[in-house]
Amino acid sequence: MNVPFFRPQLGEAEIEEVVATLRSGWLTSGPRTKRFEELFAQAVGARRAVALNSCTAGLHLATEALGLANHQAVLVPTMTFAASAEVIRYAGAVPVLVDCDPDTLNMSLEDADRKLADLKAGSLPQPLREVGDTVGIVPVHVGGQMLDIAAMRAFADQHRLWIVEDAAHAFPAAWRSGPDAPWQRSGEHTADVTCFSFYANKTITTGEGGMVVTESDELAEQIRSLSLHGLSNDAWGRYTAKGAWDYRIIAAGYKYNLTDVASALGIHQLARAEEMRQEREEIAHQFIDSLAGVDEIELPPVLEDRIHSWHLFQIKLKLERLAIDRDTFLEELRSAGIGFSVHWRPLHLHPYYQETFGWRPEDLPVATEVWRRTVSLPIFPGMTSDERQAVTAAVVGICRRFRRAA
Ligand SMILES: Cc1ncc(COP(=O)(O)O)c(C=O)c1O
Repeated sequence: MNVPFFRPQLGEAEIEEVVATLRSGWLTSGPRTKRFEELFAQAVGARRAVALNSCTAGLHLATEALGLANHQAVLVPTMTFAASAEVIRYAGAVPVLVDCDPDTLNMSLEDADRKLADLKAGSLPQPLREVGDTVGIVPVHVGGQMLDIAAMRAFADQHRLWIVEDAAHAFPAAWRSGPDAPWQRSGEHTADVTCFSFYANKTITTGEGGMVVTESDELAEQIRSLSLHGLSNDAWGRYTAKGAWDYRIIAAGYKYNLTDVASALGIHQLARAEEMRQEREEIAHQFIDSLAGVDEIELPPVLEDRIHSWHLFQIKLKLERLAIDRDTFLEELRSAGIGFSVHWRPLHLHPYYQETFGWRPEDLPVATEVWRRTVSLPIFPGMTSDERQAVTAAVVGICRRFRRAA
């Protein structure tokens, strides 16, 4: 049996809404995008939401609206996707990479502290000795399990940093400081700006798409304007009866708006988001139960006081107990017909970051070690019980066949 890494779950409601959008004659950002923004803001408990054509666009515009400038430094986890750091480079600023927690793979605040001290002491690789002030931090909730928001906020306040939260994996997800504390959703006062992704394999999808949320009207207006060429008025405003035909260019902007065709998908995906999350959670618990006795792997940590989006189900191989490495393990999964992915080769092990900033594997030792052991297994709503069983049977079978003799 073949199990893909991901299969989006799009229902009749999504299809009908797309068809209705096509028939309506309004394809670009318009009434459906406005509605999607309003519903999304409500869903995460945020004051403002601006729909964009990707999470990357959101990270870019958030950092620009916060005033990120040439040569400034921003703390970014090394254990993340290209997008979280490349947007810092757009401004000519410098991502200072931070190591991860070995269990959750989320950014380590102890290492963030260390990196700030190393910056001050001039002990980071040479190209990083010239950078200016450190102005921000970009936390990522790897796989959809949120990091400690209170600790992040305290760290940012202590060092006077803005927070742009990369919540590409974290919808819907929540955190609380203890069993009696209220839940706080990702995007609900958790950062200066929070950015979500609706890429094809994310927890809800519009094919390509993203959303930024913020409590600040000023940042929301700036981000909206920058997403549409820096114009003072959006297309819906310009062409509808009540809109003004005239506009002013108030900044050198970009073309990052989300279409109504995409928002048609988003509105209905959003309505099913919690139901789909619960299904992923059920699959995750089945995987955990079925794999609990397998000594050759570590299961993903499930922290208390979190609502996990379960965007990813990442296992870590115990290489000392296996006669094969991770890449051979992946080949075995492929032979068994099981889709997989790896999140991620850390940024400091990519040529661009090594050649531009001189990062060495030993500068971020935890990520250097742990990425060689990580495997992301398929997890998606609509996964049949046979597919679930095929995934765990393949993992158990590979571990049994390649167990290292004691
Ligand atoms: C952690 C993280 N941040 C940002 C992104 C970028 O999202 P998008 O493709 O919507 O730009 C991704 C995409 O996979 C991601 O995993």
